[in-house]
Amino acid sequence: MATVAQLLEQKGHNVESIAPHATVYDAIRRMSDLDIGALVVLDDGKVVGVITERDYARNVFLKGKASPTTPVRDVMADDILFVGRDKTTRDCMAIMTGKRTRHLLVMEDDELLGILSIGDLVRSIVAEQDMAIEQLEQYIHRG
Ligand SMILES: NC(=O)c1ccc[n+]([C@@H]2O[C@H](COP(=O)([O-])OP(=O)(O)OC[C@H]3O[C@@H](n4cnc5c(N)ncnc54)[C@H](O)[C@@H]3O)[C@@H](O)[C@H]2O)c1
Repeated sequence: MATVAQLLEQKGHNVESIAPHATVYDAIRRMSDLDIGALVVLDDGKVVGVITERDYARNVFLKGKASPTTPVRDVMADDILFVGRDKTTRDCMAIMTGKRTRHLLVMEDDELLGILSIGDLVRSIVAEQDMAIEQLEQYIHRG
């Protein structure tokens, strides 16, 4: 089972972020340009929340708010869910499923080390399963 450290080695440590006073429109524009579904909200370098496409759909669009005038801080999730580098894909999946979230920050000692999406985890688990199947097939054909 892969660790968070191994996943980050593969996908990189870059974290795309936005300021809390930026508008939701700018956040969605940035997510669209980068083809990602979440931005970490940083205030003076400190993590204060995460804004996702889901936050936009539920907290802006459905409530009839205007994205060009609504600041990110008003709609972001501020319960920051994170894991350390030694956690496994299984640990991350359990948190994501239990907390119904699609993105997890990787943090240690208040330092932001990366971000993982549910897609990253699914890709890793499928690759591991493919490898296990291949090994079993080789074993069967040798026998
Ligand atoms: N996440 C879901 O539940 C979900 C649901 C339906 C469809 N999809 C689709 O599946 C595909 C993959 O989705 P996903 O789960 O990987 O989520 P995603 O689209 O947010 O992530 C895509 C990649 O970008 C990275 N990423 C996301 N936010 C980042 C940030 N702020 N900084 C740096 N990297 C960041 C992720 O780690 C991942 O490697 C997308 O096309 C998405 O539209 C996802």
